[in-house]
Amino acid sequence: MQTEEHQTPIAATSRHNLPTRLVHAGLALAVVTQLLTSLVLQPAEDGHAGNFWFEIHEYGGLSAFALIVLFWIVLTARRRGTPAGLLFPWVSGERLSALWSDIVRYAGALRRLRLPPHDDASPLASAVHGLGILLITAMATSGTLYYFIGNGNPDAGGLVGATMFVHRTLANLAWAYLIGHASMAVLQHLFTDFNLRGMWSLHTAPKKEATK
Ligand code: HEM
Ligand code: HEM
Repeated sequence: MQTEEHQTPIAATSRHNLPTRLVHAGLALAVVTQLLTSLVLQPAEDGHAGNFWFEIHEYGGLSAFALIVLFWIVLTARRRGTPAGLLFPWVSGERLSALWSDIVRYAGALRRLRLPPHDDASPLASAVHGLGILLITAMATSGTLYYFIGNGNPDAGGLVGATMFVHRTLANLAWAYLIGHASMAVLQHLFTDFNLRGMWSLHTAPKKEATK
């Protein structure tokens, strides 16, 4: 895959402020932990304690919940970064039509097996990031609710059953989001002028650090 236009590498400037980068890194690590432990966990059930991986899943999940709450606070309070209207375009006709044009732009480039040049303000990428925030909010909230009301029976009925139904139903989407989002970031890093370090640098001044 190649970029549409060949671009010479340029200094990448992070448009993400330090709180956004810190919370993003913590959340990414927590979600990777959650997805990996979900493959081997044995939940507490019928009076039996869960296995070691379930304990990691519980504490990792409670940390993910704290981090997603922090992410919402940072999104609301920050003065620099992706505007909320780009992350959540669903209620604005103008935003939705920009999203559609961006989908057409991506589809046109992908049909020619090319990656469109990176666009910081891409309506499609931003809308997908917004959906990721909602998805991880639902996973962490359902898990945390289960932690408090579950009574060690994920197959119970009522509110406990509904909570675990949400958790299990969205689990595959969480895998799809992580794989899709991380792969797009790596492909863009490799084949466009986009620099991954702009998001992952923990430096206070990544503008000077993140030269590709
Ligand atoms: C499932 C865990 C993750 C979640 C919920 C998540 C969520 C997000 C969100 C919401 C944004 C947009 C932030 C903003 O514009 O203010 C973002 C950006 C970004 N994420 Fe993640 N992320 C996750 C994991 C990862 C991983 C594992 C990578 C590693 C490759 C990664 C790389 C990036 C990069 C490079 C950006 C910046 C994109 C840009 O500036 O255009 N993320 N992520
Ligand atoms: C962002 C946070 C979380 C993510 C991404 C996550 C992800 C997952 C995934 C992928 C599964 C496997 C589902 C399946 O294959 O059926 C799972 C199962 C489970 N999770 Fe979480 N989880 C999170 C937070 C939590 C928290 C905070 C708890 C609290 C205790 C929790 C409790 C459980 C339980 C009990 C199961 C087993 C359900 C069953 O018996 O199938 N999770 N989780």
